[in-house]
Amino acid sequence: MNFDTVIRGGTVVTAELSQDVDVGITNGQVVALGAGLPPGQREIDARGRLVLPGGIDSHCHIEQVSSFGILCADDFHSATVSAAFGGTTTVIPFCAQHRSDHIPEVLADYHRRAAEKAVIDYGFHLIVANPDEQTLATDLPAAIDTGIRSFKIFMTYDRMRLHDEQILDVLATARRHGALTMVHAENHGIISWLAGRMVGQGNVAPRYHAVCHTRSSEAEAFNRVIALAEVVDTPILIVHVSTIEGVSAIRAARERGVKVFAETCPQYLFLTAKDIDRGLEGAMFCCSPPPRDEAAQQACWQGLLDGTLSLYSSDHAPYRFDASGKLPKGEKTTFKEMANGVPGLELRLPLLYSYGVGSGRISINQFVQLTATRHAQIYGLGPAKGTIAVGADADIAIWDPKHRVTVDSALLHDNAGYTPYAGRELEGWPMLVMSRGEVLIDQVAAPGQINAARGRGRFLARERSDALQPAGRQIPEIAQLAAWNTPLSI
Ligand code: URP
Ligand code: ZN
Ligand code: ZN
Repeated sequence: MNFDTVIRGGTVVTAELSQDVDVGITNGQVVALGAGLPPGQREIDARGRLVLPGGIDSHCHIEQVSSFGILCADDFHSATVSAAFGGTTTVIPFCAQHRSDHIPEVLADYHRRAAEKAVIDYGFHLIVANPDEQTLATDLPAAIDTGIRSFKIFMTYDRMRLHDEQILDVLATARRHGALTMVHAENHGIISWLAGRMVGQGNVAPRYHAVCHTRSSEAEAFNRVIALAEVVDTPILIVHVSTIEGVSAIRAARERGVKVFAETCPQYLFLTAKDIDRGLEGAMFCCSPPPRDEAAQQACWQGLLDGTLSLYSSDHAPYRFDASGKLPKGEKTTFKEMANGVPGLELRLPLLYSYGVGSGRISINQFVQLTATRHAQIYGLGPAKGTIAVGADADIAIWDPKHRVTVDSALLHDNAGYTPYAGRELEGWPMLVMSRGEVLIDQVAAPGQINAARGRGRFLARERSDALQPAGRQIPEIAQLAAWNTPLSI
């Protein structure tokens, strides 16, 4: 058998094992794995290199208008180019409904923009800000039918947040139709009351952002949304976990059998609130929830290691450090007015590789699990994405584990114009990145170049994954109803 491409001599890594085998690729798919494969029309020498599944970033904001009404700095072209340079070959950004938006129009708009510009494959989650009758009965089921199998809801932000009954409505709809609900869980009252006080007292610098988003606001909202999910018995996924208390709440819920998944992000492993405490420049590190302290970082690492946190995503939310993003009122901008979010799509994997695999905290197989395989499993992209296996798409990143980079925003390809990780010394870098068998980036043959037509990325309609199965666990009151033969209809 002759292959289109053979990746020869590398160490192929999956979530389960590392093997010294060649990879045979034909028609964009992996068709053979084995030692000494016959030649390919293209031969890629991977000796001394790690051959990894391309990353899947299941939490990133691209060409999205925030709840503040600010368009983020990356469009589907710049974001997906940036992702590819960082070894990520699939993204799942958001289609964002704002309260007055009609969901079919929102979806059509994001589909059109992504189809024109994306250079890697993508799915979508749907942000639900107005779960009215039309949304619940018609628009969400219709979105699910098109392969958008996850919603994101907010417990904070004035213009996005849902109250508890609305959350229950969304969870029930997700259960009925087979979707996963992602939750931005912070207590709105604590944050907005403290923020009002801070601004009233003239405390408007970025560091007060971190004061208002208390650790308790995360813990309270986690426990509340977990309790809501238990009423409906449907899985949820809590995004951007940042605190000791939050990790503990999720661990406790999982231990009693609740199906709650969770993710953390680079900013909670590699930044702290001290980064925000540097005057106006601290705005570059402001995201919600904010980075915390070293102890919280340790808790997030531990959560990744023991499975409490299933995923590591970027929450890439890029805004420039100027009037278009972080500083709408220039130097007079208060922390309440600046766009929330940090860029991270391109450095997500190199940071985890260096600080995780390089330092011996996690194995290379755990790296693959956290950055690719679990995203495919939980969000219904498997078996085509998230691993290197016969029949899977040839979405592959070949890493040089010894390649050293000093982080500088000039090296990166997003449009944020800065990186919170400037100056870090990283070791281990994706040198060649392939999507469906096409080499998009080859840092040896053509450093800094990308060979990918705008719009080559394909929309991925996602399947109903096992993660969506309810736990089959009723709270006592609901179980009592069933025992009385008057079961709750969800
Ligand atoms: O600060 C953040 N994370 N901004 C992006 C929007 C969100 O809440 O995920
Ligand atoms: Zn969020
Ligand atoms: Zn986000």
